[in-house]
Amino acid sequence: MGFGTGTAEFEMTTGHVESLQSDVEVIAATLDQRFVLANLFELYAHDFSEFHDVDVGEEGRFGYPQLALYWSDASRLPFLVRVKGKLAGFVLVKRGSELSDDPAIWDIAEFFILRRYRGRGIGSEVAHQVWRRVPGRWEIRVMESNQAGCEFWQRAIAGFAGAPVSSRPYEKGGVAWRTFSFES
Ligand SMILES: CC(C)(COP(=O)(O)OP(=O)(O)OC[C@H]1O[C@@H](n2cnc3c(N)ncnc32)[C@H](O)[C@@H]1OP(=O)(O)O)[C@@H](O)C(=O)NCCC(=O)NCCS
Repeated sequence: MGFGTGTAEFEMTTGHVESLQSDVEVIAATLDQRFVLANLFELYAHDFSEFHDVDVGEEGRFGYPQLALYWSDASRLPFLVRVKGKLAGFVLVKRGSELSDDPAIWDIAEFFILRRYRGRGIGSEVAHQVWRRVPGRWEIRVMESNQAGCEFWQRAIAGFAGAPVSSRPYEKGGVAWRTFSFES
C-alpha cells in the first residue's frame, strides 16, 4: 500500500489506480447519527491510546461525554467523512481557542480517518474541505507525542496555505502540544 503520495489515489486489488479525491465527502452529522460518531470515536480513542494515557471504562468503552454537545451547542460542528459513500472518518469542530480566551477562533477538537483509507491524501482533502466550509481563524492543536499527527497537520496546512506555516509549542495539563495558526 502506498503512503504519503498526497494524490488521493486508491490502488485496487487489480492494480488499477482510481482517483479518490472527488469521492471524498464531508457531511454534517445529524442527531440521528450520533451513535455512528460514538462508535467511530472508539476506534479513534484506541489509536490514541498508543501514545496517550487513556483507559476504557468497566463497560469496555472509552466514551466521550462531550459528544452530545455537538448537537446542542451551535458553536460545535460534527462531520462524518465518506469515501465513495462508505464511512471513512469524522471531524469535530468547535469555536473558541484552547490557548487564549478568544471565542472567535475555530478549533479541530478531533479528527479521524479510518486506517483502511489512510496514506492516500484523504485526511488532507477532508481538512481542506472543512477549512473552506468554515472560513475564519484557526488554531490546529496536536500532541507532540502524536508524531504522525504533527507531520500530517504540517503537510495538510502547508498544502492549504500554499506555503509552510510555522507551529509553536505549548503545555497544558502536563501535556506537550503544538499549535498551527492560520486563516481560511
Ligand atoms: C493523521 C491522519 C488524520 C492522517 O490521515 P491520512 O488520510 O492518512 O493523511 P494524508 O494521506 O492526507 O497525509 C497527508 C500528509 O501527512 C503525512 N502523514 C500522514 N500520516 C502520516 C504518518 N503516519 N507518518 C508520517 N507522516 C504522515 C504524509 O506524509 C502526507 O504528506 P504528503 O502527502 O505530502 O506525503 C490519520 O492517520 C488518523 O486519523 N490518525 C489517527 C488520529 C489522529 O492522529 N488525528 C490527527 C491528530 S488530532
